[in-house]
Amino acid sequence: MIDSHGRTILDLRISITDRCNFRCVYCMEPDVRFQPADRLLTPTEIVRMAGIAEGLGVRKIRITGGEPTLHPELEAIIAGIRSTTRVEIAMITNGSLLTRHALAQWKRAGLGRVTISIDSVRADRFARVTRSTATPDDVLAGIDACLAEGLTPLKLNAVLVRGVNDDEAVDLAKLARRFGVEMRFIEYMPLDSAHAWDRTLMVPAAETRAAIEQKFALLPTGADDAHSTARTYRFADGAPGTVGFIAPVSSPFCGACSRLRLTADGFVRPCLFSTTEWGLLPLLRNGASDADIERFLIDVTWTKLSGHQISSPTFTQPARPMSAVGG
Ligand code: 5AD
Ligand code: SF4
Repeated sequence: MIDSHGRTILDLRISITDRCNFRCVYCMEPDVRFQPADRLLTPTEIVRMAGIAEGLGVRKIRITGGEPTLHPELEAIIAGIRSTTRVEIAMITNGSLLTRHALAQWKRAGLGRVTISIDSVRADRFARVTRSTATPDDVLAGIDACLAEGLTPLKLNAVLVRGVNDDEAVDLAKLARRFGVEMRFIEYMPLDSAHAWDRTLMVPAAETRAAIEQKFALLPTGADDAHSTARTYRFADGAPGTVGFIAPVSSPFCGACSRLRLTADGFVRPCLFSTTEWGLLPLLRNGASDADIERFLIDVTWTKLSGHQISSPTFTQPARPMSAVGG
């Protein structure tokens, strides 16, 4: 699948549920409404889409949410994708519900890699950011469990919000050193359901990096590939782990984009910031052939815009938050 700007789609993000046990301030409002179950893609539909996407060149499928571990059939979804495709299967989770038992089952079913979000290591902050009853210790236990089950290389994600957790860059970077993993800082993007995003609330990647460098000197890893969204650094003192910076707002990487997104309710989104999305359910539920769906995906891919224009004065935030469109 090639878009009209010459970019090839290699990476499909599939949101398998819009539900979440967190209400992160940069994502969902406390009173968010979820879709009724019959509007969501079924495991069979998800697996079918994975197979069709692989036939069109997709090499990696990332299972996202909402919170994918809330899906009662997560294991069957992973196993279904594994048995019908050879794509790499990754998952992004808030890390609050990970047990070694569940991780072992998902790994056996075919899960390759996990990314865990952790925005604060302080219990009071964590509660304020996630508006949940989970604690940083729950997530740290989830990190340990992933490492123990060999779900590596493990990545951690944090979103720093000005005035909320913007003083934790160093403490979060220490997690990279402690666990020997990649700690990535993602700029706050205008994808929150409250539409409260404001450029002044976004902590630019350069600022986060400077804060970390006050404590730990960093050196580029030199390992970032052309499609990677993160600029990664290792610690000059030789400590394990790396830090990464994802700067969609301060330095957009749209030119190297290789992604397409499938929402939990069956829409294809050419971009996180798309204001147009394309409904698949009428096709999937009215007998469309694989060839019909291939044609549809090829057509949607062609509509990918060259970039997201967050910095343009006419930028309009998409109606749906990250939890609906799949990180
Ligand atoms: N800006 C940046 N990142 C976000 N995420 C969710 N909402 C936003 C936002 N508004 C992140 C989550 C998770 C990943 C799927 O996307 O923290 O790590
Ligand atoms: Fe849930 Fe992730 Fe959104 Fe937080 S960012 S509310 S964990 S979907």
